[in-house]
Amino acid sequence: MTALDVPAELARARVLGIETSCDETAAAIVQGGDQILSSVVSSQVDLHARYGGVVPEIASRAHVELLVPVIAQAFVEAGLSDHATAERPPDVEAVAATYGPGLVGALLVGVSTAKALALSWGVPFLAVNHLEAHLYATLLEAPDVELPIVVMIVSGGHTLFVLMEDHGRYRVLGSTIDDAAGEAYDKVARFLGLGYPGGPAIDRLAVEGDREAIRFPRPMVGDGTFDVSFSGLKTAVVNHVRKHPDVATADVAASFQEAVVDTLLAKGLAAARSVGATGIALGGGVAANSRLRERLVETCEAEGLRSLLPSRAMCTDNAAMVAAAAWHRWRLHGPDPLDVGAVPNLGLV
Ligand code: KG4
Ligand code: ZN
Repeated sequence: MTALDVPAELARARVLGIETSCDETAAAIVQGGDQILSSVVSSQVDLHARYGGVVPEIASRAHVELLVPVIAQAFVEAGLSDHATAERPPDVEAVAATYGPGLVGALLVGVSTAKALALSWGVPFLAVNHLEAHLYATLLEAPDVELPIVVMIVSGGHTLFVLMEDHGRYRVLGSTIDDAAGEAYDKVARFLGLGYPGGPAIDRLAVEGDREAIRFPRPMVGDGTFDVSFSGLKTAVVNHVRKHPDVATADVAASFQEAVVDTLLAKGLAAARSVGATGIALGGGVAANSRLRERLVETCEAEGLRSLLPSRAMCTDNAAMVAAAAWHRWRLHGPDPLDVGAVPNLGLV
């Protein structure tokens, strides 16, 4: 990427990032936009597992309990102090939090904590779009990438094909018209009795199955748009299993997964070709999927594109990506006012 024009006071600025949009309580300190000094994630997945999905009220309460210790741990791991007084300046130069999209009660915990810290430490507050943060998860691990790239954000809540032209310049090329990819994994896994979260369970079981066993539909592939749909695929799985009760679950898992991966890659590749992207990046929880990663590498190699696969820690929600996105927003737009609220349905603009 071309060298950035960075004011001296920002070049080494440390940003405390906070992420509480869903079921991960996370805090991280990132210096100069790309140097991760610490990144702490406390997952609530065990709290929600018995309900088969994230329960918003439980998530908010857990964030309230976990956030302060998680922030304290982020300072310890960075070798910094979270103690600032009138005589002693804080060890971070700004505090950022995800303000949307996400669960409103969960977002509010992070946003109000970040504002309170920024106010008491006398440093700027930065409000971060969670989807923009996912774009930065990719860049944190591939700082030399040449833009434009297409980023496929595939998580439990989102399936987006985003053109990233430059810092702060994005265009959503396509998205799901119904279920998100991770949601389809979770719903199919629940139907197959594989528990929650469904993505990792299907990923593991699919290794033992035959992905050619059942030809599930690839909805909307070849329709000229960059949109996808997964609810019909989920219905096709349910209908098939009801009609063939003796079918091997591993074959269903492998065949379902192949249909999801085929669909995502067909659209991601078409999007990349249409905008002349140099590569395709993955982000979001489903980016941890082993078949999707393997097929993305193969596809990009065949097409002369770069494949950008974040580490598994950067696929799932974390606060390092929030702090990195915040630093770039600060550089481009300055700090945010303290009256910014949580925006549950925030889009990527
Ligand atoms: O990004 P994330 O941690 O949370 C949000 O939705 O924002 O994504 C969680 C989603 C869940 O739907 C989970 O089933 C899915 O990511 N997931 C996977 C895998 N690991 C997590 N899906 C497919 N394969 C995986 N290995
Ligand atoms: Zn996410």
